[in-house]
Order: sequence, then structure tokens, then C-alpha cells
Amino acid sequence: MGLKIAVFASGRGSNFQSLYNALREDAEKARIVVVISNNSDAGALAVARSLHLPAIHLSQKQYSSHAEFVEAVLQTLESFQVNLIVLAGYMKKIDAAIIGKYRNRIINIHPALLPAFGGQGMYGIHVHEAVIASGARASGATVHIVDEEFDHGKIILQETVPVEPNDTPEILAERVLKAEHKLLPRVVRLFAENKIEIINGEVHIRKPD
Ligand code: GAR
Repeated sequence: MGLKIAVFASGRGSNFQSLYNALREDAEKARIVVVISNNSDAGALAVARSLHLPAIHLSQKQYSSHAEFVEAVLQTLESFQVNLIVLAGYMKKIDAAIIGKYRNRIINIHPALLPAFGGQGMYGIHVHEAVIASGARASGATVHIVDEEFDHGKIILQETVPVEPNDTPEILAERVLKAEHKLLPRVVRLFAENKIEIINGEVHIRKPD
């Protein structure tokens, strides 16, 4: 069975869209089967609908308890037989019960070179503001396994971009985003080709055949 991917996204959804485009040619190997958002206005949901993909708004606010919300997320994932979860600009913490059930099968894209510039509060434009304020000469994108701590799980791949002297956070964000759009599909393809193994908590990427 190929990869059945759930994309979780809170915002515009450009990473979702670039992943969708990259996977279109080989849907047997990997395809996005559902897009889930905590935000009913998310661009990602609108894009998913326009592509005739299931687009589901699932928010804690719709449920009377956190446990019920988590149960609804798990049921949705099961009903689509999801075997890889991709966080593409998802701004909420994933519950430990979901991480436990999909151990090593949840990945996140982060717009900096982790472990630097990660953790609570480090999302979107705040990341690029912090990078520029630090005087760092390089930034980039990271795809990592999601564990119980924010931006903490094992790194799978990174792509570096320069930070130029006159960069604003917006200009840097754009440069990093271009790198993200290449990096995320690359990592998903590695999963689709079974080239990623996690042994004793360490990520191993098998070389091309
Ligand atoms: C991306 O830059 C992604 O790396 C970032 O949000 C943006 C979403 O853009 N994610 C985080 O900051 C998570 N900590 P998109 O909606 O256009 O894909």
C-alpha cells in the first residue's frame, strides 16, 4: 500500500500545495487523502476543496473536552487509513495520544535550522525576526519527526539559505519558503520509497539503489 497522507495546516497552505503538485505524478506511491485544519478560514482548506480533496475543519473549540477532540482527530485519521501525517504550517500542538499512535509517522516542516530558532512561540514570521535579530548569516528549513516536545524530534533533512545583510523578515521568509517547497516533497518521497528508518531513535536515510 502506498502512503496515505493527512496534511495538517493552519494557514495559507503553500507547503500543502507544493507537496500536492509534487506527488501528483505518482499517486500510487503517495497521495494526500485529507487536509485537516484548526482554522475554518485557512487557505489550505480552500485549496483542498478546489482540488476536490476532503477538507476538514477540526478544532478543540467544537468539542466539550480535549479528549473528545483528540478522539475525533484519531477517528478521522483512521477513516482515511492515514499512514503519514505532515504538519505543513500547523500551529497547534499535536496531542501525545496521536503521537503515540503514529510514532515516527508524523513530520513537521519548520522555517529555520533547528535546533536553533525553534520551540514555543517560534512560528511563522517570528522565526525570521529572531534569525535576523541574532545576526545569523544562514537560515533554512528543517523537516523533523514530531515527538512530544515542540520542534524537538529527530531531524530528517535540512536545506540552508543565506541571510543577506539587508533582509527584512518578510524577504527572508520568502527565501526560506522556496527551500521548504523543495525540502518537504523530498522527505515525503523518501518515506514513500521506504528509505527512512528510525533505529533506536536515530534517523537513517538509505542511499539510492
Ligand atoms: C511555513 O513557513 C512553515 O514552515 C511555518 O509556517 C509557514 C506556513 O506556510 N511553520 C511553522 O512556523 C511551524 N512552527 P504555508 O501555510 O504557506 O505552508
